[in-house]
Amino acid sequence: MRKITQYTSLDFIWKDVWNTLASSSARHPFHQVVLATHTAKAPGLRTVIFRGLDEQKRLKVFTDYRSSKVLELKKYPEASLLFYDPEVRIQLKINVQVQIHYDDQVSQQYWKQVQQGRGWKDYSSVASPGMILQDPTYAYEWSQEEQQFCVLLMRATEVEVLQLRKQGHLRAKFERGEEQWKQCWIAP
Ligand SMILES: Cc1cc2nc3c(=O)[nH]c(=O)nc-3n(C[C@H](O)[C@H](O)[C@H](O)COP(=O)(O)O)c2cc1C
Repeated sequence: MRKITQYTSLDFIWKDVWNTLASSSARHPFHQVVLATHTAKAPGLRTVIFRGLDEQKRLKVFTDYRSSKVLELKKYPEASLLFYDPEVRIQLKINVQVQIHYDDQVSQQYWKQVQQGRGWKDYSSVASPGMILQDPTYAYEWSQEEQQFCVLLMRATEVEVLQLRKQGHLRAKFERGEEQWKQCWIAP
């Protein structure tokens, strides 16, 4: 059981959020995150694996270049990430501006790591994600030559933190300004 962080100031929350994101491991609840995009019909939601931060503190997600999310992000690069850690009862919503990296230096750099493990198949199916199949096993064919590995680099523009507490909930908002981030408490 992890100790519940006692949030005392906006500055402390801000540091804690970025430290948590920077150190998030496969066992941390933030390893899985809901990514929301704009679609013509309704918000597009799906769970993805949060791959940590790059050196510019951009949040990383890996995906298949042919997936719906990439098409949606090409049209609207604004998206949201929703994390929840049930143990410490902290919800984190991050609005982001997304850069798509496919078949470039960035994607090649991360592909080298992915290729060495079992993960490469997630981006290398012969059938495109979302394709209608006569039989589910038709999706179990992969090709390293045809890999569609794509890296989404997400620059945070707004961060909202909600901590549920017995003595009263806390909610804080941080907005990227021209020069620096603005921060305030908001009603939960
Ligand atoms: C726990 C979990 C983790 C997932 N991780 C990823 C991921 O890192 N990247 C990804 O593209 N899809 C991931 N998926 C699959 C997506 O949720 C989604 O089904 C798929 O990407 C197609 O989404 P789209 O058609 O909206 O683009 C994951 C699903 C689950 C349940």
